[in-house]
Amino acid sequence: MISNEHRSILVVDDEMVIREVLEDFLSAEGYEVVTVSSGANALLELEEEHYDAILSDLMMPQMNGLELMTEINNRGYQLVKVIMTGYGTIETAVQAMKVGADDYILKPFKMEEVLSVLDRGFDRQRLLRENITLRETVNLYRIAETIAHESDSARILQEIAEASWQETQADYLYLSIFPTRAPQWDPGSVLRTGPLAGSSLTIDEQAVIDLLTREPSLLAQGADGQVFIGGPDLTAPPVSFCAVPLMVPGRMLGLLAAASFTRRTIFTEGHRKFLHILATKAAAALENTRLVEQLQGANRELLEANRQLQENFQQSILGFARAIEQNDPYTRGHSDRVAQYSRIIAAELALDASIVEDIFFAGQLHDIGKIGISSQKLNKAGKLNAPEIRMFRRHPEMGKQILEPIPFMRHLISGVYCHHERYDGQGYPQGLCGEEIPLMGRIIAVADTYDAMTSDRSYRKALPMQVAVEELRANSGTQFDPMVVQSFLAAVAKGQIHE
Ligand SMILES: [Fe+2]
Repeated sequence: MISNEHRSILVVDDEMVIREVLEDFLSAEGYEVVTVSSGANALLELEEEHYDAILSDLMMPQMNGLELMTEINNRGYQLVKVIMTGYGTIETAVQAMKVGADDYILKPFKMEEVLSVLDRGFDRQRLLRENITLRETVNLYRIAETIAHESDSARILQEIAEASWQETQADYLYLSIFPTRAPQWDPGSVLRTGPLAGSSLTIDEQAVIDLLTREPSLLAQGADGQVFIGGPDLTAPPVSFCAVPLMVPGRMLGLLAAASFTRRTIFTEGHRKFLHILATKAAAALENTRLVEQLQGANRELLEANRQLQENFQQSILGFARAIEQNDPYTRGHSDRVAQYSRIIAAELALDASIVEDIFFAGQLHDIGKIGISSQKLNKAGKLNAPEIRMFRRHPEMGKQILEPIPFMRHLISGVYCHHERYDGQGYPQGLCGEEIPLMGRIIAVADTYDAMTSDRSYRKALPMQVAVEELRANSGTQFDPMVVQSFLAAVAKGQIHE
């Protein structure tokens, strides 16, 4: 309970004796009392100072009590308003209450009555101030919904600042996120709104933080708020000051502060609660955003590590494929050339870039299955005998078995497994026919045969390019897919494949 000492009362009456009696009596009760003789003077006084209550006579010359109450309401001043009136004018007093007075006292009055009317008024006002109104609750719900679905930190801060300003009608609203406590945000992330946003006013963050580490939130009226706000443009202490932390468990992410310099806007307990709830929601949303960003970052790192792992693995497999060729001077570089021819053919067929690269890689690996065949037999001069042919012909199958356990290389298997199939169905290992043979296999078959013909072998010299090309043309439709041969010939014609 606030003691009367901190409460100020403005007495308005054109009769001096009433003013003096009330001043003496209420001062003795601990109130700060100021008296004025007219409605106009009362308004001037209210413009300058905040009062907790006004006791006004009803019947006064110029501006009567009814008009005064209406004007106080229009100006939005928040204080307990009591009308004093004689018996004959009770109906008018009731009317005064309709336009905003909290209570009335009949003259002549007993002083105890004045006190109980004031106490009742203060109690009612306290209850009103402490309870968040329905309008505020609806606003809170709407904003909480919005920020819960927002993942952009900057947008969350914008929403909070805007909603806080709308609710408090503060002259200066300040929302700050501490860079040292939330390093993922830009340093000095401060938003200002309200009519004085562009002024030199600034919040003493340290003073506010010091207080907010002791108290859950801060609501200061009059000079009490002065220590928290400064700057060259500050000519008078704020009328009202409110600050709340943006808290997540164990950490203050930032602070939200509102200052009013006009009597019309005096922050209430309701405002303090509103800002507190909003700041807590904002802190949770910001923290979620930070966690999501952290998770996404970790995921990116994981994906990158996986990509590097795959690349290293591919290089190792490629190393094996090259190692097989190293023992045979006649086949050295064969797989790389097959890969290049395959890529040229695939590009000529206008396949997707990623498929073209897959075909290139499959070309490099097409003979990986030869890893299981002894190098003497592979390099043998003269013809292979029947068991040797059988063993040699197992290399597509073995290549398939090597690649099968590796998930990110499985899509290359069709090129490795099917590069010895023939278009007429006379190839191996499956004897597939025409378009049953995967395109990758059909392309590598042409590239492989062309390179074999144009390279020296232990048992014969390389054929001239023209002869090899003619050989492909002659076997188009039997050994080779005519479409693939046609693409190969087109690449030759363009000079992409040459001696
Ligand atoms: Fe082969």
